[in-house]
Amino acid sequence: MTTPLVSIRDLHVELGGRSVLDGVDAELKRGQITALIGWNGSGKTTLLRALVKEVPYRGRIEFHCGHDHRRPTPEHVGYVPQKLRVEANLPLTVADLLGLALLRWWPLFLGIGRRARQRMEQLLARVWLGSEFLDRPVEKLSGGELQRVLLALALEPHPELLLLDEPAAGIDFQHAEKFYELLADLNRRTGVTILLVSHELSVVNRHAHHVLCLTDGRVQCQGPPQEMLTQDAILRTFGSGSGLYGHHHD
Ligand SMILES: Nc1ncnc2c1ncn2[C@@H]1O[C@H](COP(=O)(O)OP(=O)(O)O)[C@@H](O)[C@H]1O
Ligand SMILES: [Mg+2]
Repeated sequence: MTTPLVSIRDLHVELGGRSVLDGVDAELKRGQITALIGWNGSGKTTLLRALVKEVPYRGRIEFHCGHDHRRPTPEHVGYVPQKLRVEANLPLTVADLLGLALLRWWPLFLGIGRRARQRMEQLLARVWLGSEFLDRPVEKLSGGELQRVLLALALEPHPELLLLDEPAAGIDFQHAEKFYELLADLNRRTGVTILLVSHELSVVNRHAHHVLCLTDGRVQCQGPPQEMLTQDAILRTFGSGSGLYGHHHD
């Protein structure tokens, strides 16, 4: 049996005087990919933010990994948020962005020299990007490339848990597919535990080991994708006329 990396017990979050998460019980199994699905506004992003202590909560979130998770930003959790605000006019290159992540542990007196650059190239290689991307302005990256750079950031130093909030939203189908393959490959090779918010049920079906469905801040159902993605469960999670059966390209 797979042991849990994280146990979530009776989790409650209130934001702006409203209950957003209302007694969530869930486990993230070690080394598995858990997909978090649910209608917009059901509390998916809030659950991820509670896991990285960005929102106050009641209830228990226990990490069974032996690391100290009481600090505000747990080091062993990599988080790729739903929205990134890149200032359009900020002349930030990929190397600048990765440099910020490296500075968390790279001794400042070494500067961002050749060794740091080599390290950055290794980080990019992990997400299947070549070293030519280091000098690209962040604002010029395609959606898929930006997501992979953000994933590279979240993979540094070495998370046990990776949280991804709709990572492929706004990316065309082909590149989204490649991104999910990359995630599945990382999971297989490094055993990193992944919690992934996704609306693409075909992706969930192919890559997730476990599915959690949220409705109005509660876990509506959970189980293996083969059981969760039946018509019944989808209807219970999304309601009829959800349009989620359709696959749209834009
Ligand atoms: N800071 C906030 N203040 C008040 N309400 C919020 C805040 N953040 C999120 N909410 C509300 O909580 C609900 C769940 O939001 P969210 O977790 O972002 O849902 P999801 O990611 O599933 O779409 C929504 O109704 C949203 O409007
Ligand atoms: Mg969200």
